[in-house]
Order: sequence, then C-alpha cells, then structure tokens
Amino acid sequence: MNAHAQPSEEEARGVDQLIDDLERLEVLIAGWDESQRVIALAYRRAIDALHEGALRKLIAEVKTAPGALDALRAAAADPLVYAVLRRHGLVKPSLQERVERALASIRPMLAAHGGDVELIAFDPPDAVEVRFLGNCDHCPSSTLTFVAGVKQAIEEQCPEIKHIRQAKSAGAVGASLDFISPFASKRDGGWRYASALDEIPEQGVKSCAVNGVPLILSRLGRVVACFRDACAHLGSPISSGAVAEGRIVCPRHGFEYDLMSGECLTAPQAQLQPVAWRVVGERVEIRFED
Ligand code: FES
Repeated sequence: MNAHAQPSEEEARGVDQLIDDLERLEVLIAGWDESQRVIALAYRRAIDALHEGALRKLIAEVKTAPGALDALRAAAADPLVYAVLRRHGLVKPSLQERVERALASIRPMLAAHGGDVELIAFDPPDAVEVRFLGNCDHCPSSTLTFVAGVKQAIEEQCPEIKHIRQAKSAGAVGASLDFISPFASKRDGGWRYASALDEIPEQGVKSCAVNGVPLILSRLGRVVACFRDACAHLGSPISSGAVAEGRIVCPRHGFEYDLMSGECLTAPQAQLQPVAWRVVGERVEIRFED
C-alpha cells in the first residue's frame, strides 16, 4: 500500500477481512482448554517477536537515509501501519491515546465520588474538551476537580496540550439534551463530539470520522440521523454519492438510501448501519454501542 494514498477499496476490504478472521480465531481459541490455549499464545508471541525484530531492523537500516524519517512518519499516519507499529512498541502512543490515558488515571478518584469524565473533542494540535458525568457533573466542587484533577493530569502527561476546555453538562443552561436517537442504550457516557448541528445540511449529508470511523450525518430540523459511511451492498463509502430530496445514491452500484431511516430503497432488506446520536444544545454527539 502506498502510505501517501488512501487504501483502495480492495485493500480496505482485505484488511477488514483479516481483522474479521483474527477476531473469529480469537473467539475460537478462547474456547479451547488451557493447554491448547497456552500453545496457541506461545505461537503468537513467537510470530510477534519475529515481526518486531524484523521491523526494528528495517527501521534502523532505513532511518538514516535522507528523507527517510519523514517517509516513515508519513507511513505511520496510515491507521493500519500505526496499529501494527504500536502493537510492537515502535511508535509512541498518539496524543489522543495519551489524553485518554491521563483521564483514565484520575477515573478511580472520580468514581469514588460517583462521577466520571469523558473526552468529547480532540482538536489537534493542542486542544481538548472534556465533560464531567454522574455526580461530578452537579458537584459544587467541579471547578476544583477540573483544575486540580483533570487539567493537571492532562498537562502532566500531555504537555503538548495547551487548551483544556470543560464542556457544559447536558443539564447546564444552554446545553440541554434535546433529542436522542432510538438506537442509544441507557448507559452513561461514551459520547463523542461529531459535529455542530448547523454544519449538517438539512436533508443533506455531512461526512466526518469519529475515533477513525467514517460516518455520515443528516438532519431534519433538530432531529439527526447518523450511519456508518458504508454501503449495505459491498461496504463502499457512500458519502460522495448524489444527494437529493433526503436520499443518497451509492456511487458504486447505485443503491439508494433514505437519509433519515437508513432504509435501502433499492433492496428493501438492506439497511445502513445506524450509530447512536444525541443533540446537546448545538452539539451533535455520537456513541458506538457495539
Ligand atoms: S457498494 Fe454496491 S451499491 Fe454500494
């Protein structure tokens, strides 16, 4: 794969297939008895060690060549390359991972008071927005908790972050929870900022990615619809398809979808995969339920 180009559909499908295969094998191995599992895990560790050794040598060999470091950095921007290099400890955790880690470090303290905190926006290169949940949300000391807990943890672990904003809670004035999708479960937290409401065209499409997952958003007034940007036919992105009268047509083979229901009008048994969303004030947030 060319690190400077987007993966082709064929490459993306190949990677998805590999990930599916790995997940299926992991489930299978988890069901084996202890002695078989130990052998399988030892085999995997040996393969991992082999790959890590080879990658380390490769990087050490090429990194002194002119322009090689930039090329390696560009290659590591590819999510697949990054994931493999991360697995072998060959790249540092991304800034967003370190912010999540900083929040995780103070969660036990917040949980002791029945609260939690979530990262709701990461605005590269140096800004994040967090929000308190549970008891921390309404606590009179939340400003102190924010400054002495959340802010300090992020500043210590991620000195590159210069702006740390505390978002208003869902119950705060000007940020009321207006609508929530029927696909949202009852659990707390896990919401991620996806878009400002007014950036989603009425009966049109806005595409975005949250946690690296491509999504499409549409809306009717303040009611939103959110789906994975993947056609129900062969999984191709549909966000670049023609949009008219609240419908979108997959650019690949022409399947047509209703943008609010996700229903496929070409093959009624097919359906876009919905993603839970909610509207809080002027913010649209989404959550992956699986
Ligand atoms: S991938 Fe075939 S219609 Fe969308």
